[in-house]
Amino acid sequence: MKRYYRLPRIRRYQVPCVNRRTLVSQAQRRRATTAAEGLGLSYPVVDHHYDAIVVGAGGAGLRAAVGLAESGLETACISKLFPTRSHTVAAQGGINAALGNMTEDDWKWHMYDTVKGSDWLGDQDAIHYMTKAAATAVYELENYGMPFSRTEEGKIYQRPLGGQSLDYGKGGQAYRTACAADRTGHAMLHTLYGQSLKAETNFFIEYFALDLLMVDGACVGVVCLSMEDGTIHRMFARNTVLATGGYGRAYFSCTSAHTSTGDGNAMVARAGLPNQDMEFVQFHPSGIYGAGVLITEGARGEGGFLLNGEGERFMERYAPTAKDLASRDVVSRSMNMEIREGRGCGAEKDHIYLQLSHLPKEMIHERLPGIAETANIFAGIDITREPIPVLPTVHYCMGGVPTNWKGQVISVAEDGSEKTVDGLYAAGEAACVSVHGANRLGANSLLDIVVFGRAAALHIAKNNEKGMPHLKVPEDIGRDSLADMEEIRMSSGDMPSSKLRMDMQKAMQKDVAVFRTEESLSTGNSAVQQVERDFAERLSLTDRSLIWNSDLIETLEMRNLLTCASQTAKSALLRKESRGSHARKDFGERDDKEFLKHTLSWQKEGEDVRIGYRDVVLKTLDEKECPSVPPKKRSY
Ligand code: FUM
Repeated sequence: MKRYYRLPRIRRYQVPCVNRRTLVSQAQRRRATTAAEGLGLSYPVVDHHYDAIVVGAGGAGLRAAVGLAESGLETACISKLFPTRSHTVAAQGGINAALGNMTEDDWKWHMYDTVKGSDWLGDQDAIHYMTKAAATAVYELENYGMPFSRTEEGKIYQRPLGGQSLDYGKGGQAYRTACAADRTGHAMLHTLYGQSLKAETNFFIEYFALDLLMVDGACVGVVCLSMEDGTIHRMFARNTVLATGGYGRAYFSCTSAHTSTGDGNAMVARAGLPNQDMEFVQFHPSGIYGAGVLITEGARGEGGFLLNGEGERFMERYAPTAKDLASRDVVSRSMNMEIREGRGCGAEKDHIYLQLSHLPKEMIHERLPGIAETANIFAGIDITREPIPVLPTVHYCMGGVPTNWKGQVISVAEDGSEKTVDGLYAAGEAACVSVHGANRLGANSLLDIVVFGRAAALHIAKNNEKGMPHLKVPEDIGRDSLADMEEIRMSSGDMPSSKLRMDMQKAMQKDVAVFRTEESLSTGNSAVQQVERDFAERLSLTDRSLIWNSDLIETLEMRNLLTCASQTAKSALLRKESRGSHARKDFGERDDKEFLKHTLSWQKEGEDVRIGYRDVVLKTLDEKECPSVPPKKRSY
């Protein structure tokens, strides 16, 4: 299908829209010129009005878009990427739900595992909601046409993954992860994209969201740049859902796509709203050594195991019961300890081996074809013969925009009072709902995105009607955002953003890493602040155009990453305990007395990060149906 339908006489005012092929009318053209003049700009600004907007077209964004469009609301989905290129496509292992297809299972056991995995920083009302909704979410995907792997009897196949147990940790390993071989995210994303087209979502593809449009504390939409033709678009809606993904690219080595640049988190920060728990960054145990590309935990679920340089299955020492399927933070730390104590693999003893060659070839072909190919391409390894060299690699951001379990974004005043932000929702990795707390369990992310994408859509649909009046906005709304973009586009210092990005990524990788200390975190904070100063004073762009200006887009992404990096480093410095993925060598224990609380971080453009805290929700939605899990020491 041709993506843009062009009429020769309409040059710069067309709105690329894949399924609707909407073109800007004469009236819109006139309004675009008026809007541009009002903003003092020489380029066109096109205004659009929808009932709801979704920013981001990964699993969370598409699931929200499906729900909104199906409810009859006029829905736009804005994405800087073609939807099926979103990072969800890279998810491998699967989606958790207590379907009970392989053994008896219960969503309350899933709830227990998720709370324990979160090291008690997860909000138990949201975890209750997610784990209870999980089976319905998986069957919904099945009904949408998602090609799940199957058992002999034709049921959805489920594999074991880390941190899963039966009977509240007492019944051994659970088999809870439904999957489509090791390409579950790919299957899910294509399924949801098909459904969102069927529901008549209006797609604005290769549009880069610059900022939220806020009026008196309410969100009224976003302002964005069409990367193809340089037109500016103000997208107005009564409700905006941020589903922009994580910020893994703040680090040098990560499994995240190059586009995981924390755009939603930084937009929220620029709007004066907080992010939450940004210090909790998950390292996945098996990134390919050197390349950082993901090798699914499903490889260990299907029987693979880790070996140190002495050929020892060392996880037996660190997690005697769960061994290689302990939760990710535990496995990643154990691997790092082996390397630090001189038991790494290879000439430089700087990595670990993932052994799979003992597994039957037919099983690898059926269940793990993707990683067999990936290991071959990125490490030159035939996994049926040799182990894969792996290293813990940044994989997931537990922190993000704070929301309640309905997806509504929460703002917190200086006196600690909380309220929901009118018209603003967030879902997926961009959000912190918080179901993952200090450490996410494998395959709870694909679950999170569909459950909370749907929850946001449900809440919006319940409280809004098609064609509801929009809030009144000032004529020049969005002007500051465009002025910022113009300042960046015209920067003429002596440092390209690629250099600034490398400085930030190296600092984060070195000093805000798996193991942290006061010293490393202070160094990391200073280094990130230096990058902030360099960005403000020395940034240089060479391409001044607005048409496919990748220099500009990468710089805008770098600005967003820098906000996320600053908030991560500062939040980590001030959390003087070890919890989940946040492992302090100088504060080795979890400290529930002082730190059983969420970190909040604010940072407006050009300002330092400000830190605050809020309570963790320790009660479920219904204590009778599902009693909460009180904090206790975590062991696997
Ligand atoms: O290892 C994996 O397949 C990753 C799964 C996840 O992060 O949920």
